[in-house]
Amino acid sequence: MIKRLKYCDIWYRKIVKEGIRNIRMKGMPRSRDKDDSEKHMGLLKLVQILSFLVVFVAGVVFGLVTTSHFSQHVVSKAEIYSFINHFSADAPEAVKNGNCTVVKDCNKVEDCLSMNSFVRPKNITHYMSDDELFWRASMVPTKEEFPYNRVPKVAFMFLTRGPLPLLPLWEKFFQGHEKLFSIYVHAVPGFKLNVSSTSPFYGREIPSQKVHWGTVTLADAEKRLLANALLDFSNERFVLVSESCIPVYNFSTVYKYLIRSAHSFVESYDEPTRYGRGRYSRRMLPDIKLYQWRKGSQWFELNRALAVYIVSDIKYYTLFKKYCLPACYPDEHYLPTFINMFHGSLNSNRTVTWVDWSIGGPHPVTYGEANITKEFIQSIRSKGTPCQYNLGTTSICYLFARKFAPSALEPLLNLSSSVMGF
Ligand SMILES: *[C@@H]1O[C@H](CO)[C@@H](O)[C@H](O)[C@H]1NC(C)=O
Ligand SMILES: *[C@@H]1O[C@H](CO)[C@@H](O)[C@H](O)[C@H]1NC(C)=O
Ligand SMILES: *[C@@H]1O[C@H](CO)[C@@H](O)[C@H](O)[C@H]1NC(C)=O
Ligand SMILES: *[C@@H]1O[C@H](CO)[C@@H](O)[C@H](O)[C@H]1NC(C)=O
Ligand SMILES: *[C@@H]1O[C@H](CO)[C@@H](O)[C@H](O)[C@H]1NC(C)=O
Ligand SMILES: *[C@@H]1O[C@H](CO)[C@@H](O)[C@H](O)[C@H]1NC(C)=O
Ligand SMILES: *[C@@H]1O[C@H](CO)[C@@H](O)[C@H](O)[C@H]1NC(C)=O
Repeated sequence: MIKRLKYCDIWYRKIVKEGIRNIRMKGMPRSRDKDDSEKHMGLLKLVQILSFLVVFVAGVVFGLVTTSHFSQHVVSKAEIYSFINHFSADAPEAVKNGNCTVVKDCNKVEDCLSMNSFVRPKNITHYMSDDELFWRASMVPTKEEFPYNRVPKVAFMFLTRGPLPLLPLWEKFFQGHEKLFSIYVHAVPGFKLNVSSTSPFYGREIPSQKVHWGTVTLADAEKRLLANALLDFSNERFVLVSESCIPVYNFSTVYKYLIRSAHSFVESYDEPTRYGRGRYSRRMLPDIKLYQWRKGSQWFELNRALAVYIVSDIKYYTLFKKYCLPACYPDEHYLPTFINMFHGSLNSNRTVTWVDWSIGGPHPVTYGEANITKEFIQSIRSKGTPCQYNLGTTSICYLFARKFAPSALEPLLNLSSSVMGF
């Protein structure tokens, strides 16, 4: 209060001084004309006194008005501050009594910007378009150190039409490793998995769109899965799996294998037949040349850097969308070609998902109940060895296998602990 008055006092004095100076200046022209001024000396004095009085009174009034405004201003400011303090200290209470909707809304905004919801998005539902989603997913922090204890996770991305018949096997696989993975499911729009709220699959369906097998919408779905998974900054590796895929090693083996790998596992090879080079279109020139064209399995495994490059690409994706039409399938050529052209050194060029093409034709072998034996699963685990891994070799080439019919579930559950280690 004292300070405020002092402040106003200085102001008031300044005004009075200025008033006096004005009076002197007004008086000056008159004083030039000596005779005139002498004649009207008395009148001038009176005018001077009067104007001084007027200015004085005006100054007092101005000072009073300013003081009251100022204190009002201070009071309202103080109210705002106390509101803010109150809000941050007692927000949960205010929300509880349900009487303060403003506080509720503020609380929501605060929550959206909190580090926790940014770094560990709990609910993966959103209403972003693909454009908006891919843009957000392409963000890469420039600052290298994370301001939180980042434990790298493996994102398991399930591309499926509907239910996941082998889901109980996957649940068994994931059990006990909750902090080291995240699950994303792309099914038909609106589809919800019928799982209990304790399942790691609960609420993991991403906003999806219709997929027509063999068209670019399949590549779209893969990009959508990648982009949703990229929103969680802890996800470091990204595995695409289908409803007919199974894991053939336990979680800790799979986790270490992927996290410690210097390379991604996107199959990428040059196939000089009509099923490979034969699907190349010269209309992709001059951007994609025949010698750069590659083929590979759709079931990829990517590290974070490659995943960001893929959701950020428009140019090459657009070429595939326009010119890779049946019998060219974008899901078999886009990633292998794109990675070969720009990021070959980040790729192992092999896949970690085993599949059996031995019967020939357009579809691989599907294994059912009668085919599942200990020996069969063992043989998958030791197929193709040794494989190149980082600078050396490994006795493990495949972590996953396909295709398995729903009927294979029971025998697989039976064998998982004795053969697959989970
Ligand atoms: C709001 O507060 C008033 C008075 O405290 C109370 O009577 C009323 O029930 C409250 N409304 C709600 C929705 O809680
Ligand atoms: C969901 O699963 C439960 C048991 O696992 C089953 O009883 C129920 O019929 C299923 N619901 C649907 C809609 O499939
Ligand atoms: C996520 O939020 C949406 C709406 O915002 C809600 O319908 C859904 O049930 C939530 N999911 C979970 C797992 O809480
Ligand atoms: C996982 O499997 C490996 C061998 O493949 C084994 O050494 C390890 O003990 C298993 N881990 C668990 C947690 O069972
Ligand atoms: C994979 O292929 C690329 C060329 O696309 C090559 O540069 C890279 O060395 C290969 N990776 C390995 C591990 O051999
Ligand atoms: C799987 O089992 C069925 C029924 O016994 C058999 O006809 C089929 O040849 C088996 N498939 C393979 C690839 O072994
Ligand atoms: C599971 O294993 C047990 C004993 O190991 C066997 O008796 C049973 O028939 C098996 N079930 C299936 C579906 O294979």
